[in-house]
Amino acid sequence: MQSQLNHLEHYPEWRAHKLAAWSRLKTEPAIVIQNPSLLTEGEHLQLTKQVAENNMAIYRFNQTEPVDRTIIQRFCEQIGMHKLDQNLCADEDSISTLQVMPMGRTKGYIPYSDQRLNWHTDGYYNPPGHEIRSFLLHCAQAAAEGGSNRLLNHELLYISLYDEDPELCHALMATDSMTIPANIENGVELRPVQSGPVFFNNPNDGSLNMRYTARSRSIQWKACSRVAAAVKQINAQLEQSEAVLDYRLKPGEGLICNNILHSRSAFTNGSIPQQQRLLYRVRSHNRLFSEE
Ligand SMILES: [Fe+2]
Repeated sequence: MQSQLNHLEHYPEWRAHKLAAWSRLKTEPAIVIQNPSLLTEGEHLQLTKQVAENNMAIYRFNQTEPVDRTIIQRFCEQIGMHKLDQNLCADEDSISTLQVMPMGRTKGYIPYSDQRLNWHTDGYYNPPGHEIRSFLLHCAQAAAEGGSNRLLNHELLYISLYDEDPELCHALMATDSMTIPANIENGVELRPVQSGPVFFNNPNDGSLNMRYTARSRSIQWKACSRVAAAVKQINAQLEQSEAVLDYRLKPGEGLICNNILHSRSAFTNGSIPQQQRLLYRVRSHNRLFSEE
C-alpha cells in the first residue's frame, strides 16, 4: 500500500519541502478574506497554496458584523467542501455549533464542554468510505480565557516516524491497526465497532490522511510491537515536538484543514455574552479544493 503514496519516490525533496513550509506557516499571519461569500482570485489562490503546502490555513474574515451560517456555507462551497458530513450533533445545514451545552443530545460530549480535548483527527471512528478528509472551524466568539488549539500537519508526524523507521509507518497502514469499540447509548448501538488504519492514502492522488485519537480508553491498538512503538512515538511527538503550532482563534478567524491532528485546551467563559466561546464546525468527506 505504501508504494501508492505519491511522495515516496522523491522522499528527501518532499520531506524538505514540507518541513520548510510548516516553519514558514508558523510565522505567517491569517489570510484576510474581504467577502467570504465571494472570494477574490487572489484570496482563493492564497488559501489553495497554503493548504497544498501545509494541509491547513488560518483565515480572518474582514467584516465586523457577525457571520451567519449561510456565509459559512458559501465559504465552504468555494473552498471545495462539497461532501458534507451530517453527524449526530450537526444541524440540518451540516454545521455544528460548538459551545458549552449542559443539556440536550450533546451533554457528555467533550467538544460541547469547556474541558480539554485531547489530540485527534475528526471522525476517527467513522467506517471506511466515510472518512472525514477536511473540516472548518470558525470562531464566532472566544472564551474569556483558554480554548486555544494545538495543530500539527500529520505529514510531519509521518516524516518523523519514517525517519525513525519506515516499518513504523507500514505498521500503521494496516487496516486493523486501530479499533474503536461500538458507541452504545441507553442500550442502543449508535455506531458499531470500527477497525481501520492510522495512515491511509487517497487512491487517485496518493495524498496522505490520518485517523488517530490520543485517548487511552475506548480504543484498542493492534497487538504488535511496531504499532506499540509507533503509538508511543506519536504521543511523545504530540506532547513535545517544537513543530506543534499553538493558535487561539479570535472572533472572525477560522481554521480550514485536511483533517490534521489537533487538540483544544480547556477554557473559561466570561460573564458577558461576547465571552461565551462559540465555534461553527463543518466536516467534509473530500479534501479541500479537491474532488476526493
Ligand atoms: Fe476535532
